[in-house]
Amino acid sequence: MLSTKALIVTLCFANYVLAWPAMAELMKLQRRQGPVDPADDPLDEPANTRLPGDLATVGATSVVGQTIMDILLRKVTAEAPGIPSPIIPPALSSAKCKADTCCVWRHVAIAMNFAFIGPTLRCNDLARAAIRLGFHDAGTWSVKLAAQGQDYGGADGSLVLAGEISRPENKGLEKIVTQMKAWQKTYGVGMADLIQFGANHATVTCPLGPRIRTFVGRKDSSKPAPDGLLPDAKASADSLINLFEDKTISAHELAALVGAHTSSRQFNFDSATSGAPQDSTPGVWDVLFYNQTVQNNVTKGVFRIPSDVALAAHPSMSAEWQKFSLGNGIGQDHWNGDYAIAYTRLSLLGVNNINNLTECSRVMPVARPDFAGFFKQFVNG
Ligand code: HEM
Repeated sequence: MLSTKALIVTLCFANYVLAWPAMAELMKLQRRQGPVDPADDPLDEPANTRLPGDLATVGATSVVGQTIMDILLRKVTAEAPGIPSPIIPPALSSAKCKADTCCVWRHVAIAMNFAFIGPTLRCNDLARAAIRLGFHDAGTWSVKLAAQGQDYGGADGSLVLAGEISRPENKGLEKIVTQMKAWQKTYGVGMADLIQFGANHATVTCPLGPRIRTFVGRKDSSKPAPDGLLPDAKASADSLINLFEDKTISAHELAALVGAHTSSRQFNFDSATSGAPQDSTPGVWDVLFYNQTVQNNVTKGVFRIPSDVALAAHPSMSAEWQKFSLGNGIGQDHWNGDYAIAYTRLSLLGVNNINNLTECSRVMPVARPDFAGFFKQFVNG
């Protein structure tokens, strides 16, 4: 048996190992190798000016509120470069840890490091399910319903706390729900935050994934979210765009969000091809998904979700889709920046205390913007 101290040292060593490739990459300072079109910089793109929760009703009344507003309005990036801080957190039960809101989240992050990384250093099945869980909890919120008095659902933890796992659209999320319950028991954090923290953690755990700025302090709810607000993969592009518009998410932002399927596998949508990935590099946050979704021929072994194909061809999305697929890191940087902004918006749907949140980005693992080399040859893991 490892002593607690030895365990912590081991965990921290793992962090350094994972940090190294990214630090080497950062030292190169400039990752892009081709000409940069200002239109490929997320901060130069037109902002979606609709604001969520209390930012819409009372505006930004705190530093965090202003930061989030600036992210959503594309004035600042939603990515947080850097290495985890502290690398070794004070003991969970210590007064020092209790005095720092983010300390417990550093402990959670270390537990997630071990749970989310596969043998080939890609993000694994549990990580990908965590990303989908983040979407399926937060996505159950509607502007129209909120205006009619049903301002609940959204990123409130109800998927786990109210048993929404029994809804057919949540099939496949059982293991991550069980894991989230176990983590909540161990660390005593809020479920709504745990789910969104897990989604951001899993995203940066995928090689090439962005390190999205992460906020905690959401309110939990055990009231089931309104039903019927998650997308149907067989729906038309127009109806999907309308569904997301009703969550304040623009077509532009939706184009970035569905890119999460770059990492994914489908297990239940088409049982005949259960386990098939949505591009040839599952578990890697690359832009191959944007390429392979629009190719004339389906890549062998890849299963294209019909909604992705429909959205890629829609006039309000196809130009952006093409830009995300550009090589030499141009599409990757553009998409990562856009995804981070769009996911920040998604992760705050139904949250009405945004001004009271705390930023804990610093406890997240380091990003790994380079995934060349030995492990690239493996499709599984
Ligand atoms: C038009 C919107 C969307 C539709 C129709 C859709 C549909 C689907 C479907 C059918 C699957 C396969 C589920 C299975 O059979 O196991 C899937 C998986 C997945 N989705 Fe989506 N999705 C959408 C948007 C999103 C968004 C916005 C995110 C995250 C931000 C996301 C993240 C994921 C992930 C990570 C998986 C893979 C889970 C795994 O590998 O186990 N999806 N999605």
